[in-house]
Amino acid sequence: MTEECAICNGTGWKIVEKDGISGAERCQCAIDSRTTHVLEAARIPPLYEKASLENFLLPRDNQAAHDALSSVLSVVKRYVRGYPHADRPGLLLIGNPGTGKTHLAVAALRGLIQRGYEGIFYDYQNLLDNIRSSYDPSSGNTDKEAYRTVLDTDILLLDDLGAHRVTDWVEDTVTAILTYRCNNRKPLIATTNLVDPEAGANVSERSGTGVQVRTTLAERIGMRARSRLFEMCRVVRMPSVDDYRIKRSRAS
Ligand SMILES: Nc1ncnc2c1ncn2[C@@H]1O[C@H](COP(=O)(O)OP(=O)(O)OP(=O)(O)O)[C@@H](O)[C@H]1O
Ligand SMILES: [Mg+2]
Ligand SMILES: [Zn+2]
Repeated sequence: MTEECAICNGTGWKIVEKDGISGAERCQCAIDSRTTHVLEAARIPPLYEKASLENFLLPRDNQAAHDALSSVLSVVKRYVRGYPHADRPGLLLIGNPGTGKTHLAVAALRGLIQRGYEGIFYDYQNLLDNIRSSYDPSSGNTDKEAYRTVLDTDILLLDDLGAHRVTDWVEDTVTAILTYRCNNRKPLIATTNLVDPEAGANVSERSGTGVQVRTTLAERIGMRARSRLFEMCRVVRMPSVDDYRIKRSRAS
């Protein structure tokens, strides 16, 4: 809402006539200012400041990759359009590095904020560091805000789930967060590049030097957190497309 708005004179409300009856409606300037405000509060990292569903590009040089990525994009668009979802309120994007998981997760959050919902972005590793330091009296940090926020926020975007060494403390903390959100049907949008058999991944993979066993999601976050994750999220498995970061650096 701005003082200068000519439509509502800064009140944030405008009078609309419908079938001869006049009523008040939110002015576009108020809607825009709310969106800006909520987007700022969502703390989307600058690198993804512009990431949206509209600028998610489909590869043109590879038809199979194009089609696979296009269907992933449709799932995310449908998720945003159909939100809130009664059955599985969240979204889990799983796949290799550089395939666009964080881009799509941010784009979904942005789309939901534009639709009037609220949410917040958290990098998994960062979040755990924050929570840990708030428990450590020697750090002088008595701020329990991060923990409270991830429990309370409407939509939580947890980026790079499982990207952390495993300790009992990490496992307990993640389990507590997911359990709380799951029990309260609070949506979680998560990304991970760990593999999981539930998402159709081969846990062992052939590489140049033989068969390599990959770290699974369960190994990093524990069985209980993993179970809740699948209970509350629709799973989007990223296709095996080229790493966009490498592709982009080649092109420039
Ligand atoms: N299809 C795409 N169209 C446009 N930009 C893309 C696309 N895929 C990825 N990008 C961009 O490439 C960069 C890497 O993508 P992103 O961070 O989403 O990958 P990721 O799957 O989350 O990788 P990681 O597992 O390493 O976190 C970002 O800047 C993102 O905006
Ligand atoms: Mg990412
Ligand atoms: Zn106005």
